[in-house]
Amino acid sequence: MIAARLERTLVLLKPDTLRRGLAGEVLRRYEDKQLRIVAMDLRTIDGDLADRHYAEHVERDFYPPLRDFVTSGPLVAMVVEGDSAVDVVRALNGATDGRQAVPGSIRGDLSLSNRENLVHGSDSLESAEREIALWFPDLG
Ligand code: RTP
Ligand code: MG
Repeated sequence: MIAARLERTLVLLKPDTLRRGLAGEVLRRYEDKQLRIVAMDLRTIDGDLADRHYAEHVERDFYPPLRDFVTSGPLVAMVVEGDSAVDVVRALNGATDGRQAVPGSIRGDLSLSNRENLVHGSDSLESAEREIALWFPDLG
């Protein structure tokens, strides 16, 4: 028996999702799971927000092209709420690399890339709190 735990997590539909016209398809998967969207915003971010969001990765070799990618066009940022939302969103998203993500997951069904992998989900409750405050400072 797993105890119910109401959580909020930050989800990004990255620029490839918007470019490919997959926002509806991806949103449907979160909604079908009975997660609730409590905040949502379409925006194009600058490098400074990318650096703060990916603070743990800024020194990595893969970061410069990742920074170019996430700032390359509109993305959808949202806060998603539900029972165990942090882990449930990560499971729906699938493994980071779309080539390895299991079929049935968003990345497993729709991405063939380690960078252009469509979505982001906070990796822990602590990350979710930090990221929600970063992206939606006015959310109570
Ligand atoms: P995300 O933060 O975007 O939800 O993805 P994640 O937790 O599954 O993966 P993470 O380790 O946080 O990596 C963030 C993003 O960096 C790119 N990446 N490239 N070795 C590489 O080339 C590499 N590793 C990670 C991916 O785009 C990943 O989504
Ligand atoms: Mg991550």
